[in-house]
Amino acid sequence: MKVLVIGGGGREHALAWKLAQSSRIETVFVAPGNGGTAQAERIRNIEITDLAQLCDWAVNEKIGLTVVGPEVPLAAGVVDLFRERGLRIFGPTKAAARLESSKAFSKDFMQRHNIPTALHMTFSDRAQAHAFVTDRGAPIVVKADGLAAGKGVVVAREIEQAHAAIDRMLPEVADPDTRVVIEQCLEGEEASFIVMCDGKNVLALATSQDHKRLLDGDQGPNTGGMGAYSPAAVVTPAVHAKAMREIILPTIRGMEKDGIAYTGFLYAGLMIDAHGQPRTLEFNCRLGDPETQPILMRLKTDLLELLLAATETGEDRKLDQIELQWDRRTALGVVLAAKDYPQQPRTDDRIRGLPQPGADVMVFHAGTRREGDDVFTSGGRVLCVTALADNVRQAQQRAYEVVREIQFDGMQYRGDIGHRAA
Ligand code: AMP
Ligand code: GLY
Repeated sequence: MKVLVIGGGGREHALAWKLAQSSRIETVFVAPGNGGTAQAERIRNIEITDLAQLCDWAVNEKIGLTVVGPEVPLAAGVVDLFRERGLRIFGPTKAAARLESSKAFSKDFMQRHNIPTALHMTFSDRAQAHAFVTDRGAPIVVKADGLAAGKGVVVAREIEQAHAAIDRMLPEVADPDTRVVIEQCLEGEEASFIVMCDGKNVLALATSQDHKRLLDGDQGPNTGGMGAYSPAAVVTPAVHAKAMREIILPTIRGMEKDGIAYTGFLYAGLMIDAHGQPRTLEFNCRLGDPETQPILMRLKTDLLELLLAATETGEDRKLDQIELQWDRRTALGVVLAAKDYPQQPRTDDRIRGLPQPGADVMVFHAGTRREGDDVFTSGGRVLCVTALADNVRQAQQRAYEVVREIQFDGMQYRGDIGHRAA
């Protein structure tokens, strides 16, 4: 079978790498892919970014299954488009992807369905937003409505930061289409809780924890994610059960009630308080990046069979009957980012010292491109060095050993991935 992975980041390299291990797969195409997927066995990049063209290509090529990595094509309706042409694709429809693509939609949805989350208000008028912040005081959180690659959120410890964020995110003259969500600041420890859904049944993947801030000690600006590990011990069995019962299942049922069947990966960003109560920080309608890299390194189940089961329809939907097999060890991934990420990442730096892939270490590519035997940076997050070992500390050691072999000008990475668990 031929399969297609849409996207070009580290998450998509990990998906393609895992799918290529499936015996029934002839070729994994990745559109557009990156320098890592450009040179791997049974994986091929395909240079089409226009979704209508990609859909035509997939029909001609007789692609048996498509899986979508990033949120942008999902929010643009790629699942609707492929399904209309009779193609099998795993992901949410455009309407369902609003759980991620509009923070205002997802916050209103959570409120209506009693899903635990921070209290919030939505504004398009600057003066009203400023007055609300003045009234509530700091700490407070300001979020741009719409997709912002994890960079549209300001957690304001000082009130001035919140006022500045409002002025930056809202135009001087109110426009109903440009909104901010202002919400209560939650305290606790974060975790990424990702499930798969076939429109009816839910199957949870292994837990993980991301590191959103650029610098060690969770300092500096928010990024798309600087490193992750799986499993995340903060998600105890009790927290897991609560997250399923109070967040995931009511979300899938709530979408169904609202007439929007949810298919695809669903990612709840959780904040878990000192009493073990999880609350939803956000929904993503896809796998996390970089969480996918450690999660898929631990997955022993055949990913093709899993995705085929998840894309069954009607009475054939039996995703809840699958028992996933996981490597019991910990996987930990460290992101190497380009100079000046996340503001204005520089590109075209030559990467040296890339190791050969080993059994327990993978260097997943993200913003890279290949020219002959040379690899250059081509985006903000460049690589994710992911290692498997018996515990967090050993996985950390192994990953950082490999990180230290790799060099490119301006390379940035955190030295403390896994610090909450090590
Ligand atoms: P989001 O894109 O909504 O996940 O926000 C990005 C990051 O901002 C989250 O991973 C949290 O670290 C932080 N954040 C978002 N909302 C809140 C909140 N209500 N309270 C505290 N931190 C938050
Ligand atoms: N790592 C966070 C995200 O994928 O949104």
